Amino acid sequence: MDRIVIEGGARLEGEIAISGAKNSAIKLMAASLLTSEPLRLTNMPRLADTRFLGKLLTRLGAEVEERDGPDGAETVLQTSEIISAIAPYDLVRQMRASFNVLGPLLARSGQAKVSLPGGCTIGARPVDLHLSALRALGADIDLHEGYVYAQAPRGLIGAEIAFPFVSVGATEHAMLAAVLAEGETVLRNAACEPEIVDLADCLNKMGARISGAGMDVIRIQGVSRLGGATHAVIPDRIETGTFALAAAMAGGEVRLTRTRSDFIANLLDKMEEAGVEVTPHNDGVTIKRNGQRLKAVTIETDPYPGFATDLQAQFMALMTLADGESVIRETIFENRFMHAPELARLGADIAIQGGEARVRGVSSLNGAQVMATDLRASVSLVIAGLAAQGETEVGRVYHLDRGFERLEAKLGACGAKIRRLKGAEMIEDLTADA
Ligand code: UD1
Repeated sequence: MDRIVIEGGARLEGEIAISGAKNSAIKLMAASLLTSEPLRLTNMPRLADTRFLGKLLTRLGAEVEERDGPDGAETVLQTSEIISAIAPYDLVRQMRASFNVLGPLLARSGQAKVSLPGGCTIGARPVDLHLSALRALGADIDLHEGYVYAQAPRGLIGAEIAFPFVSVGATEHAMLAAVLAEGETVLRNAACEPEIVDLADCLNKMGARISGAGMDVIRIQGVSRLGGATHAVIPDRIETGTFALAAAMAGGEVRLTRTRSDFIANLLDKMEEAGVEVTPHNDGVTIKRNGQRLKAVTIETDPYPGFATDLQAQFMALMTLADGESVIRETIFENRFMHAPELARLGADIAIQGGEARVRGVSSLNGAQVMATDLRASVSLVIAGLAAQGETEVGRVYHLDRGFERLEAKLGACGAKIRRLKGAEMIEDLTADA
C-alpha cells in the first residue's frame, strides 16, 4: 500500500494547473451509453475512478480509448451496441457512481440489472430517489438479492418529478434517463451543481433538449436518438478548493490556473473572512498568505452554491491552526467527520457532537502517522501535514488516487516537501467515493 510522506513547514510558491472534474467526467462517460456514435471527452482527468468506470463500460459494450489530444488527456467512448445490461456487485460496490449506468442502460436497451451500491464510510447513501425517479419515468423496478431489475420494454415516458430534497446523483440520473423518454420531463428541486450543467451541456451537444440546468427546475424534451459529440470536461472545483486551502495552510502564493473561481465562491468568501488574500483572475484564482495567523470562521455545508461538503475536511484542516473556535456543520452526509480523529493525532483540538465539529485552533501541529478514510478526508491530512512540524505519513493513499491527479507532483512543483513511498498493490474495497 502506498504512503505519502510530508515534511511540514515549506511555503508554497508557484502555479498549479487544475484538472478536469472527476465528478463530471464519470457522469459524462456514463452518458456515452446513450448513443452508438463516439463521444469525445477532452480535459479528462486520469484517475483511478475514471479508469475503473472505463472498465465497467467496456464490459457493457463500449470501446474506450484514452489518448493524448492537442489540449491534454482525452477519452473517446463508443458503444455501437450494448452487449450486456448487467453491472455486477463487485464493480458497483467499488465505485458507487457506477450505479448511474442504470438509467442510460434502461433508456437505450429497455432493461438493466444493476447492483445496489451498499453503504459507504461517509454515510448510508441510499438510492431511493434515483429509483423513484426511474419509476416515475415508467420503469418497472424490482429489487432482489441486492440487485435492481429494471424494465421499460416500450421505452420511458416523460414525467413530473419533484425531489423531496436535493440530490446531485438522482438529478443526474433522472436527466440521463429522461433524455430518450417520450415527451416532457420536469425535474423540480433539482441539484444546481456545475457538474449538472456540464452534463446537460454535453447531452445537448449530443442532441438532447434540456433547459434550466443550474436552476432548481430542469425541463427535458425527450428525443428519439442521440448522436456523438466532442465536449471539454469542466475544471474540478474540489481540486481547485483543495489547492487553495493547501496554499493558505502552508503560506506563500499560489496561482491556480485552468479553472474557475466562481465555482468555489462560497469557499473563497470564507477564506477571505479568515484572512487569506484571494485574487480571482480570468483563468482561475491566486491565493496568498504571508505569515499572519488566520481567524477561526464558521461554516455549514449545503447543496451548491452553498459550501461544498467535499471541501469540509480540507477546511477543517485549515481551521486547526486558526485563532479561536470554528464551528463546522455537516448537513449533507451523516458520518463525514472521520478525518477529525486523524487530525487530532497531529495535535488538533476538535470536539464532535452529531453533525457539528468545534475546532479550537492550536498554535502548532506535529507530524505523525495518520490514515486516510475517504477521498476528501485523505487530502485534508495532506493539507495538515504541510503545516505540521516534522514528518507526517498518510497511509491508505489509494483513496487519494481516486480523485486527485498527480497530487504530489503538483504540490511538489510549488515547493512542498512531499513524496510517495511505494507499497504492495492494494486490493481493497473503495466504497468511500465522494
Ligand atoms: C455527489 C458527489 C459527491 C458529493 C455529493 C454532494 C459524485 C460522484 N459524488 O454524491 O462528491 O459529496 O454529490 O455534493 O458526483 N440521498 C438519499 N437518497 C438518494 C440519493 C441521495 O437519501 O436516492 C442522500 C445522500 O445519502 C446524502 C444526500 O442525499 O445524504 C445528498 O447526496 P447526493 O447529492 O445524492 O450525493 P451523491 O450524488 O451521492
